[in-house]
Amino acid sequence: MIRLDSHNVTQSAVGAEHGLDLMAVFSQYQATLKNDIGQLWSNKDVSGAWSRWLALGENTQLAQSITAYANKVKGQFEHLVVIGIGGSSLGGIAMFEALLPSYWNEQSSATRKGYPRYYFVDNVDPDKLAGLLSVLDLKRTLVNVISKSGTTAETMAGYLWLKEKLAEAVGAENLSKHIVVTTDPQKGILRKIVKKEGLTAFEVPDDVGGRFSVFSAVGLLPAALLGIPIDEILRGVRELTPTLQSSDIHENLAAQGALIQYLLYKKGKHISVFMPYSAKLAFVADWYVQLWAESLGKKYNLEKAVVHEGPTPIKAVGVTDQHSQVQLFNEGPFDKVFTFVRLDRFDHTVEIPNLYPEIADLSYLGGQTFETLLQAEGDATRASLTQNQRPNVTLYLPQLDAYHFGQLLFLLEVQTALMGSLLQVDPFDQPGVELAKQYTYGLMGRPGFEHLKAELTEKQPAILRQ
Ligand code: PA5
Repeated sequence: MIRLDSHNVTQSAVGAEHGLDLMAVFSQYQATLKNDIGQLWSNKDVSGAWSRWLALGENTQLAQSITAYANKVKGQFEHLVVIGIGGSSLGGIAMFEALLPSYWNEQSSATRKGYPRYYFVDNVDPDKLAGLLSVLDLKRTLVNVISKSGTTAETMAGYLWLKEKLAEAVGAENLSKHIVVTTDPQKGILRKIVKKEGLTAFEVPDDVGGRFSVFSAVGLLPAALLGIPIDEILRGVRELTPTLQSSDIHENLAAQGALIQYLLYKKGKHISVFMPYSAKLAFVADWYVQLWAESLGKKYNLEKAVVHEGPTPIKAVGVTDQHSQVQLFNEGPFDKVFTFVRLDRFDHTVEIPNLYPEIADLSYLGGQTFETLLQAEGDATRASLTQNQRPNVTLYLPQLDAYHFGQLLFLLEVQTALMGSLLQVDPFDQPGVELAKQYTYGLMGRPGFEHLKAELTEKQPAILRQ
């Protein structure tokens, strides 16, 4: 199982000013957290509470129907293009990078066991899109378009673009074999298109927000299309659930994580650095950044008072960022709390050869493994941060597989929800994304949004690009 080591946030590790008396705060917050945990899980099946993501691990039936579809299309496609943005893409990207062999797209078909290469369209940069088109064999391409709302401009533009290209390549009559949609069961333009055109579709269930949707068809469908064992992901989630439901803070890792983040935030550590010591987990940091930022950065609290609350998440990757951000982390302001993610073991052993035995300052590396080097660097960075009184926790995974990957993301989701409770903000809405979205609609001429274009061009011309 996943483990949490929080020793390095204690006062004995980082001093009274920057650390916590964990035993004291655990007992001080036991009642509050018991209430928050109970409240969270009691909302699991409540309509309108946006907490159905807590139940996604139980949905083995969904996993079966996704697997059946993935088996049916296996071998037919050389390229899988996933079109989505934010919560509709970041979990998938994190999953593929973590769980597929590295350099997947460059691997032979035999190494990929006949599963396709994959590409994400999560941006509308025309240069990137043109580049993608130049590598796709459209006749052998499957497109999974993912949008809960079915209206997101970036995703829908990508869909319109690729649908037209596909139609040109395979003919309108064959188009439906090349498109699979993931969207709301009832609402939105995409659902209408699915019904009208008879496309294959999976659901983003009711009351599951984008950034909490990775264990729904949003993440599981593309994962299954690439041969990732999705039942193992869900088993990991299910087997961690009792721990995360526990009202005893000494058992509940997500509650511990949330409380530590909350109390350190209140001590002025407004930046939450997420730093996996595994290059394959680098994209989990991107997923975490969105989860933390969109869930916790809020103008209003639950009482509707203006609070402008929210810790700023930062992505860092061990060992790469030791030569980039760690200088700041060690010597800059005391405004950060760190979450490391470590693996007990890696899948591959790669030795460093001893090519210069006569040069002692180089030959010490020879005969050792890259895993030993990476783990030593992880320990060293953590030790230096602790010595410099920078509080940090470490999440340990026994290994990087589907089971533990599911546990890592689920723990972070529950931690985020509990952090929302402690901060007294709603972690499941994102009103701050709306204004720019609506201005975009206005600038792009969407009916009903003309007044926003007028507002921007007439009242705020200086804001617009010159
Ligand atoms: O987490 C969220 O709710 C957002 O990041 C959404 O996932 C993102 O805006 C995409 O929305 P949709 O899936 O409706 O296209």
